[in-house]
Parts: sequence; structure tokens; C-alpha cells
Amino acid sequence: MTRVLSCIQPTGAVHLGNYLGALRNWVRDQHDKDVFHGIVDLHALTIAEEPGVVGEATIELAAMLFAIGLDPEVATVFVQSHVPEHSQLSWVMECTVSYGELSRMTQFKDKTAKREGKFISAGLFTYPALQAADILLYDTNEVPVGDDQRQHIEITRDIALRFNHRFGDTFVIPDAVIPTAGARVMDLQDPTSKMSKSATTDAGCVMMLDDPTAIMKKFKRAVTDSDSEVRYDVAAKPGVSGLLDILAAATGRSPQDAAADYTQYGPLKADTGEAIVALLEPIQARYRELIADKGELARLLSIGAGRARVVASATLQRAYDHIGLVRP
Ligand code: TYM
Repeated sequence: MTRVLSCIQPTGAVHLGNYLGALRNWVRDQHDKDVFHGIVDLHALTIAEEPGVVGEATIELAAMLFAIGLDPEVATVFVQSHVPEHSQLSWVMECTVSYGELSRMTQFKDKTAKREGKFISAGLFTYPALQAADILLYDTNEVPVGDDQRQHIEITRDIALRFNHRFGDTFVIPDAVIPTAGARVMDLQDPTSKMSKSATTDAGCVMMLDDPTAIMKKFKRAVTDSDSEVRYDVAAKPGVSGLLDILAAATGRSPQDAAADYTQYGPLKADTGEAIVALLEPIQARYRELIADKGELARLLSIGAGRARVVASATLQRAYDHIGLVRP
């Protein structure tokens, strides 16, 4: 059976870009494929500065993952720090990737640019090695992610191929699976940047837990273009195209198709807002139930960690054996 792995960081609240770009595809796959999904709290440490914040976000994220429909009976949902093999294989990955390769990562350049004048951890630089460990530990065939993760999957493939060449066939070579609609959800206020938790203002970022009034307001205020033609043209009309992308992803149509229904920006904004409210309302209701029982969430995460460790520990041992490390 095809093995799927993908992860999300517990840094701030989940937004619409995470959902349309990645999370909803995790739910779609869970009955046909063997799926593993990690809440990668160790990745979040690359920018963590205060005690308690990552832990709280981890529990909230777990509630959100079950609220969108991941079924703990079939999907293995775990917390990265509960599976120590991630840190252990990460060191091996750091020794298999080069300084030059890590220096070329666009996410490292973007993230350090945004943190100008702030502490930049070495972990922010070696981050892709930990991500490679996350993926390779599970003999992963497919990694469903948004477009911004493309380079991280590429470097994981390069690391796996290099390791296999040096030490013999050890790791499965994974493929990125990027959706046709929703792969790059753009910021509503700055439509040439992707929607992101780290944006300077939250007016352009729709959160999964925003109430209907807030959602409608964000869409009504979305930046569009100076003329008034509704047409899908990402280069010339990024604002309108961003809205059409969201509407298309929410309604299962193509953005070009959706554009044909509109001659004015106002109705396009209102309909996109309404489509997102309808999509998120049931998720929000389930989230409220799940977050009320933190004991149950902890129990589900501990079952997930147990299942994840069975696979991860076997792969780590295989990697150590192929390198020729002496067993204890
Ligand atoms: P993270 O936590 O930033 O985002 C989680 C997922 O959401 C997708 N995404 C988007 N998709 C479309 N439009 C957007 N505006 C948008 N913003 C975010 C991301 O592509 C991602 O799929 N490095 C990863 C976490 C990670 C990981 C892994 C992923 C760690 N280990 C192993 C896959 C496999 C990250 O920071 O994602």
C-alpha cells in the first residue's frame, strides 16, 4: 500500500493556506493509503522563545487535525518529539547533506530575512535535515504538501539518493504531491506573497477558527486590481486571481471556470467568503468539541506515537546497520 507522510508545525493557528494546500488532501488519502501525519514540535523550536507556547499549540493543532476529519482509527497522527528516532536520524541526515545545499534553501533565506535583528538559530539552517529524517523514517512514497515545500522534498530526495549510494539501499525515494488547486494560497492583502502565519498583518490571512463575520470582512477587504475585469491572470491580476484560486479550491472548479461567472469584484469577494464560511463552519464545531477534552487528545496522540515508533525505529536501525555502527 502507498505510504504517505506529511507534517505541520505547531506555530500559531492553522490558516486556510495550510488547509487548502495540504491538510484536506491528508484527509482525502486516509482510506486508500497508509498515512502518517506529524505535528512537528521540534521544527517549531527553530523560532521558539518562550516556555509553554509550542506545547499549547501542539494540543490545539491535534484537535484541528481530528476536526478536519483525520480518523485516528486509520491515520497515524503523532507528535514529533514523542518519536525520538526523528532527532536521531536527523543527525545522520546532517552528515549526509552539504553546507552548500543547505545554503541554497530559499526558505532559509526568506526566514532569516524576516528575522533581521533577531536571534537566528543554527536549527533554522539545518531544518531540512530534520525534515528529511521525518520523511525517510517512514519509507514514504508520497508527501502531500503545498507548493512552498517543493524544495524541501527535493533536498530530501537528494539526501536519500546520496545515502543509498554510499551505504547501500536503505531509504525509499519520496515524491512530493502538490494539489492542482490550492497549492499556493495567497495573502488577501498582499497577493504576491503566500498566505502565512508570519505575515505582518492578519487581515490577509484567514484562520481556520475565524468566525463568519471576520471571514467575510477579510474577503470584502481583499486587495484587488485597479481595473474592474474579473479574469484569471496571476501575473497581471494577482489579487483577483488569488480570490479565484480560493473559490476554485473550495468549490472543486478551475479558477478560469469560476471567473466566467463574474463581471464585478464585489460578488466575487462575497461568494468566495461565503464558500469559505460554509467549508469551515462544520470543522469549527468539531474543533470546539475536541479541544474540550484534552485528556482524550493526549490519549490519541500516544496511540499515534506508538504506531509511528514501530516504523521509525526499524528504519533508524536499518540506517545505522548499513552505515556499520556497532550495535549496543
Ligand atoms: P508548515 O507548517 O508551514 O505548513 C503545513 C502545510 O501547509 C502548506 N501551506 C500552504 N499551502 C498552500 N498555500 C499556502 N499559503 C500555504 N502555507 C502553508 C505547506 O506547504 C505544508 O504542506 N516544513 C514544513 C513542515 C514539515 C514537513 C515535514 C512537511 C516538517 N517535516 C515532512 C512534510 C513532510 C512546514 O513548515 O510546513
